[in-house]
Order: sequence, then structure tokens, then C-alpha cells
Amino acid sequence: MPSVFIKTYGCQMNERDSEAVAAQLVSKGYSLAETEAVADVILLNTCSVRDMAEQKAINKMENLAGQFRKSRPNVILGFMGCMAQSRGQQLIDKLPDVDLVLGTQKFHRAADYLDELIAGKRDKIVDVAEEKGSEATIKEHILSGSAKDKSVSAFVSIMQGCNQYCTFCIVPYTRGEERSRSIADVVAECRDLVARGVKEITLLGQIVTSYGKREIKIQDGKSAFVQLLEAVHEIEGLERIRFTSPHPKGYGDDLVEAYGRLPKLVESAHLPLQSGSDRLLKLMHRGYTRERFSKIIHDLRRVQPSIGITTDIIVGFPGETEADFEETLSLVREIEFDNAFIFKYSQRKDTPAAAMPGQIPLEMIEERHSRLLTCINAIAAKKYENFVGRHTQILVEGASKKNPARMTGRTRCNKIVVFDGGERHRAQIMDLKIERASNFTLYGDPAILNVN
Ligand code: 5AD
Repeated sequence: MPSVFIKTYGCQMNERDSEAVAAQLVSKGYSLAETEAVADVILLNTCSVRDMAEQKAINKMENLAGQFRKSRPNVILGFMGCMAQSRGQQLIDKLPDVDLVLGTQKFHRAADYLDELIAGKRDKIVDVAEEKGSEATIKEHILSGSAKDKSVSAFVSIMQGCNQYCTFCIVPYTRGEERSRSIADVVAECRDLVARGVKEITLLGQIVTSYGKREIKIQDGKSAFVQLLEAVHEIEGLERIRFTSPHPKGYGDDLVEAYGRLPKLVESAHLPLQSGSDRLLKLMHRGYTRERFSKIIHDLRRVQPSIGITTDIIVGFPGETEADFEETLSLVREIEFDNAFIFKYSQRKDTPAAAMPGQIPLEMIEERHSRLLTCINAIAAKKYENFVGRHTQILVEGASKKNPARMTGRTRCNKIVVFDGGERHRAQIMDLKIERASNFTLYGDPAILNVN
């Protein structure tokens, strides 16, 4: 059977989609290639959020075609995911070496299409159609059986699509309308993962706080998403629950209060702010004000004072003035995020913001990016430094990527901790003393390990 190599760009949803496709192909007899150089099938799972992410994948495909087309004429090259969805046939017109273009509602068709291409029954396949029920089609995971690389943490997709239509964002066009899986279906997948040794589950979706809005009724004042959290929380053996990405407007009292009530729901929240200026928030169609956003953070910290809060911010949205940008800076200083991902605004096809007046020149975007980054890094360094000398609980994930002689884990508030441990610590919940902090990493002292 052929071997496949999948390269993933972009978010955690994409990582999960790649894993799902890989798992499905493995179940049909494919093997996973160690490198692209030895793979019979190379798939790029793409991201469209910014132009740079699209260009990276296109350049990569050009390189792959240049490298392999002549020496290995039978290699199958494919694009899947968000850029495949938004560009479709155009990708093959631009890059005639591409054999397959698979949209975001068609991941479950990968095996059938590859079979047809490999058998020579079809020459090129483009499928970017909508498909009802596609959000619940792939439940398989790749959890390696050997103790050495057994997964401790897994992603579970609970919904697809987004109806928020933020004016800068391409996601509603690449991922389609919001569609949610049932609570029973999600819980069954989580239960199976826990039975196979997983201790931490991250529930995924483009806007998880809108989970089940149309399908599942509010009960005792609890939204469908909180009902799902409660149901997953019941799973015996599961230690930690995370989720991403939520929308701030989804942080009703029921969700805020869940952080105080559900011990497996870790003290961590990623709340995309985008801007601190009410004028821009309105133009972005975000659905909250600066004051409302601050109130959510305040409430979360009241319920869980140690909660780690991260965010996404866009600099250079059309019409952003120096005053708007300073509003963002002042809110960032006020809130003190544990970390923030800063995005340089990128015009996306067919989005309302792309046609707005006052597009900001790149130099100005870069200048604001650098000022905001300095501010965020200074706050984060202080926050990380606060951990030094304290004990904290970590879940050990495995060997550190940078230094395989060390082990790495995460605190409940989502900070990476590196320590001199060994394979025997994998999948353990440990209490560790933090000795030093640097560059968004905490370093623990192995001499003061207490394994629970
Ligand atoms: N330009 C720059 N950043 C964007 N994001 C979404 N769309 C754009 C765009 N057009 C950022 C937002 C979002 C994150 C995943 O990507 O900050 O939260």
C-alpha cells in the first residue's frame, strides 16, 4: 500500500483535520511516510487566514513539484483544507502538477479519491462542495500504541464553521455555516480516547462557544456548550479539559461559572480581543465593547484568580489611527495577558474589510506590530517570572522537542514547563518547583518532584 506525508499549516483545527485524514488513510492500509522524499502521496493542509500562509503553501507545492515530478512521476500531490476550499480549481490551473484539491467538508473522501488517482481511473480531482453531516464524519485518531510516543493529549472537533462574519475574516467562507456534532457523539469519541490513555482533551471548533446553538436547547440557564463541558467532565480517567477558539461574546455567566465548578476545566482561556478600540471593534463586527471584554476577564479572574489568559490582536485593520492603536496598547497593559498572538492585518478575498477605506501601509503595520510585541513580551516576562520559586501542577507530554534529553509538560494555565525527567514521567500529573523562567518557558527542578 502507498505511503502518505501530510504537512499542516495554520491552526489546531487544521492539525486535527490532518490527523483525522492520516488516521483514516492508515485504517485503509496506507502507511505514514517519515519524510516527503519517500512518500507516494504528499498532501498540504492549508491555511487562508492571512495571505502569507497561502503563499507559503503555494511555494512549498512549487518546490515539491520541481523536486519530485521528474524523478518520481507517480507521486500524488494534493492541497486540502481552507485554501483548497477558497481557491478550488484555480490551484490546478496555476500549478498543473497538483492532482487533488480537497475542500474543508471533504476530508473523509481523501481515501476514495487517492485510490482513484493511484489506480489511474481519474487524472485530477477537485471537490470543494458542501456536504451535510460532514462535521461528524471522521472520528479516528492516531494514538501510537508504543509507550514511547503515546499521546497524552488529544484534539476533538465538536463543530465546524462560523456565522460571526467578522469583517476581516475569511473563515466563514472557507469553513461554511456553523454545524455541530451531538453531545453523545462527542462524548463517545472522548471516552474512547481516555480508554486509550489520553488524559487531556482540547475541544475544537472555529467558534466553540456557539456550539449547538441551533440544535440543543438552553437548560437550567446553561448553553449547549456548557452542557457539553459538563458531559465531557463526567468521563472517568479524564484529567483536563481545554477548548479553542471561543468568542468573547460566548462567555456568559454560565461559562464563567463553569470554571469554578468543573475541576477538570483548566484555568486557561484564549479570548481573541482583536482591538482595544470600540470604533474598530464595531467596524470589525466583533459584537462586544472594550468595557464588556474587560468585564469578562474580571469575572474569570474572580472565579479563578490563577487563570492564564491569552489573546489574538490584529494590527493595521483598515482605518486604524494612532489613537485606536493606543487604545489597544492601554487595554493590553490594563489586562496583562499571559501571551498574545499579534497578526498583521491581511486583506482577504471577498471580506468586507478588504474594500474598506484607509488601508494601512505595511511600514506602519510593522511599526505598530513591533511596539505591541515589546509591550506584550514585557508583561509576559513578568508573569512567567512570578512562577519562579512556586510549585505548580503539570501534565507531562513527552520529550522536549528542543532537547530530547529533557521532558516537557504544561501547567493547567497552559504554560510549558521543561525539566530533567525521563520516559517514566510521561503522562504523569506532577507537582514541580519552578526554578527559572525564560522565553515563554518555565524550568522545573527535578529534585523536588512529587509524582501524584
Ligand atoms: N488579517 C490578519 N489577521 C487575521 N486573523 C483573522 N483574519 C485575519 C486577517 N485578515 C487573525 C485573528 C484571529 C486569528 C486566528 O487570526 O486575530 O483571531
